Amino acid sequence: MVSFTIEELPIPSRPGASGWADFAASLELQNAVEAEGYGTDELTFTPEELLPGYHHQEYDPRRLYAVRVGDHIVAGARTDAQAEGGDDCVWLSLSVHRDWRRLGIGSALAAHVEGVAAAEGRTTQYVYTVSPDGPGDRLAAPTGFGSVPRANPEVRFLLGRGYQLEQIERGSRLALPLDPAALAKRFTAASSTAGPEYVVLVWDGMTPSRWRADIAVLYTRMSTDAPSAGLNEPEDVWSVERLVSYEQKHQASPRTLLTAAALHRPSGRLVGFTELSVPPDTRRSVSQESTLVLREHRGHGLGMLVKLANLQHLAERHPGRPAVTTFNAEENRHMLRVNEELGFVPMGYEGAWKRVVS
Ligand SMILES: CC(C)(COP(=O)(O)OP(=O)(O)OC[C@H]1O[C@@H](n2cnc3c(N)ncnc32)[C@H](O)[C@@H]1OP(=O)(O)O)[C@@H](O)C(=O)NCCC(=O)NCCS
Repeated sequence: MVSFTIEELPIPSRPGASGWADFAASLELQNAVEAEGYGTDELTFTPEELLPGYHHQEYDPRRLYAVRVGDHIVAGARTDAQAEGGDDCVWLSLSVHRDWRRLGIGSALAAHVEGVAAAEGRTTQYVYTVSPDGPGDRLAAPTGFGSVPRANPEVRFLLGRGYQLEQIERGSRLALPLDPAALAKRFTAASSTAGPEYVVLVWDGMTPSRWRADIAVLYTRMSTDAPSAGLNEPEDVWSVERLVSYEQKHQASPRTLLTAAALHRPSGRLVGFTELSVPPDTRRSVSQESTLVLREHRGHGLGMLVKLANLQHLAERHPGRPAVTTFNAEENRHMLRVNEELGFVPMGYEGAWKRVVS
């Protein structure tokens, strides 16, 4: 029987400050486990890039846990919650270093973080985790789109803890660079499909003040308008104050956020947007963040239009990255069709799991 301790880690104020070594070690372990699951470290965000996300506690309460054997961190967990709305919900992620598995550490860590959350009334518990392909029987998502191998460790583990598979997310990768002439031609065609009522705006970093209210609406609709199967995840309301606070904190991140948004000229409102998160190191991949077109403006090819504009923006302002990675629900055929047309190919699959504790 191995002897280990579980603790919540304090969040350092900046890289190198008190608590940084444990914070970074826990996140690097979680990155290594994710890279093992996907067979690539392309999805990695460094601890420096992740730190601002832990400084937004008043809106996005986030906690980090570590399991130690002696002085050595062998497992880590993170919990995410919403400060307002969905106060019965929590999102968990759990990683045990491969050399320390099948020793009961994962079970003890899960029981601890699930217990802390449940004690706060967060009894609807979600886990999103990669399931590498494997042999044998498969467990199908109730959506009818996608499945995971039943014999995988994480599948056995989550079923054993009472989680139900609700949805499959596809991770996809678009190799860069794209041919600039072909991209420009496609953008012209997409602009003509959208018609003269729509125009695309692009910017780097913080949202220009005149668009903040519109971006706050688009962020809020991300939580309600994307297919969420039986997950029933709560609405996540964004105010202008929350957006500004979030963007100011993220100014400390080494990453740059590129946004392309569709302006509906007759109403003067932004009705669709897409974001790319660009790492400073040109050898690392770009992460596709939110994309949304408001329901009432769908059917004009605006999703494709804003994505093409942002890929052009990326090539002009931040060239040299090897790829863009993205995640979509496997049943989200509209978004997948856009991504497939752009050249994204599948790189792995995640299960989205839920359990409700009484
Ligand atoms: C899933 C994971 C957290 C399990 O951690 P662990 O410390 O090995 O888990 P435990 O030793 O507590 O195992 C608990 C039970 O899970 C199941 N399980 C775990 N690994 C398994 C495996 N390789 N094969 C079959 N069942 C397995 C078993 O039922 C096991 O109980 P048992 O050992 O009494 O048979 C670990 O494999 C991991 O970090 N995987 C990659 C990250 C991940 O998938 N995280 C998502 C989980 S939330």
